[in-house]
Amino acid sequence: MKAVNKKYIIICYSTSEMLNADRAIKSKGIHTDLVPTPSEYGTICSTSIAIAAEDRQLVENTLAENNLDFKEIHPYESRKLSGLIERLKSNITTQTFKDIMNKIQEGLDITKDEITYLLKTESKSEIDGIFTAADQMRKEVVGDVVEIRGAIEFSNYCKKSCNYCGIRKGCTVPGRYRMEEEEIMEGVHQLHGWGIKTVILQSGEDDYYSTETLVNLIKRIKDETKMMITLSIGERPFADYEILREAGANNFLLKIETTNKDIFNFIHPDDDFDERVRCSEWLRQLGYVNGSGNMIGLPGQTPEDIAKDILYFKDMAIHMIGIGPFIPAKGTPFESYPQGSVEMTLRVVAVTRLVCKNVFLPATTALASIDPDGQTKALQAGANTIMLISTPSKYRSNYQIYSNKNMIDLKSAFKAVEESGRKLPKYLKITSEEVL
Ligand code: 5AD
Repeated sequence: MKAVNKKYIIICYSTSEMLNADRAIKSKGIHTDLVPTPSEYGTICSTSIAIAAEDRQLVENTLAENNLDFKEIHPYESRKLSGLIERLKSNITTQTFKDIMNKIQEGLDITKDEITYLLKTESKSEIDGIFTAADQMRKEVVGDVVEIRGAIEFSNYCKKSCNYCGIRKGCTVPGRYRMEEEEIMEGVHQLHGWGIKTVILQSGEDDYYSTETLVNLIKRIKDETKMMITLSIGERPFADYEILREAGANNFLLKIETTNKDIFNFIHPDDDFDERVRCSEWLRQLGYVNGSGNMIGLPGQTPEDIAKDILYFKDMAIHMIGIGPFIPAKGTPFESYPQGSVEMTLRVVAVTRLVCKNVFLPATTALASIDPDGQTKALQAGANTIMLISTPSKYRSNYQIYSNKNMIDLKSAFKAVEESGRKLPKYLKITSEEVL
């Protein structure tokens, strides 16, 4: 087995400086990888540049020539999983599987074919081995604490007609609603009162909420609670993303759903694949902590497609990856398509943890909606985040992006954390006794 190549990691002062540095380095033909900044180096810039040790001098010269400043440079080791092969002894039946797990143990990157192998293997003992490895990776890179965030679905109006989505334009929903600032703030304060640190503001693509309206809301949330803000409001122009970021939004969730262009176009009649990728690149450039994700079980989707999705998340240095099964939604063109499988979704969560390592992987609502134990199972398969649904109860039945969408409340979150033997975050100010 080849020794692990030594690497260095370059930490910059801002995402735009990091991207400029990366461009300058790459223009010299030097290979770089963008990686989530390890937590010991602080939060100043969430994505950093990894380079081979032998390129260090050339890289530093290149940056100096271009007057590009950086904050720090450190030796960087891709996360190894010591003792993995020993632990998986009884799971290893083929040489291919052994070689892949060996690479993971040694901190080497695995290839698209190897990812595909992990997604395709039908050997029960190998599948169990994948979950064991993912759980070890999760424990070593992000620990036992489950991050708990709260989502407020503030509008179910949408100008788009995505074929799978239960709130698509033209789809009959029990009622369309829009929450005004005051009502959204009530939800924010409830989450804040529980000690939750991040609020996710999600909606259909609804232009009723102008940039100005959203800026006022973001500023108010910051003033009154100092919470971290995640936006999940779809595609918008660069200038809007920029204004919202400057107003204080921290994270953005914009899922690619699939990296197979044909499937992307088939399921999104109003969208263009390249434009979606461009939006994600803008968000990264603006310094958002960038979220993406996919759906599993889309029509025509193959394990090779999913392997490509996982490599896309890694190459784009995505920090939050929402992986959920496709669920047919009543009244949509896809209402009679078969549902994605729980087992495959869990396996994709596990393999994503093994490939992307230091990332937030939510136990998705979609998974919980088709399996009552879905959240617990996801936490055991590499996930480390739960998103509560904090939409006021009178609106919830109107935000059925898929049928029978589950309610993730504090009670079910506590249950999943307990059942999976994990820890609640110290910042929570509410205990399980108080919600039961
Ligand atoms: N099945 C599964 N997930 C869905 N989403 C939307 N509609 C469906 C569906 N029918 C997911 C998409 C979207 C997120 C908000 O919800 O991945 O990005």
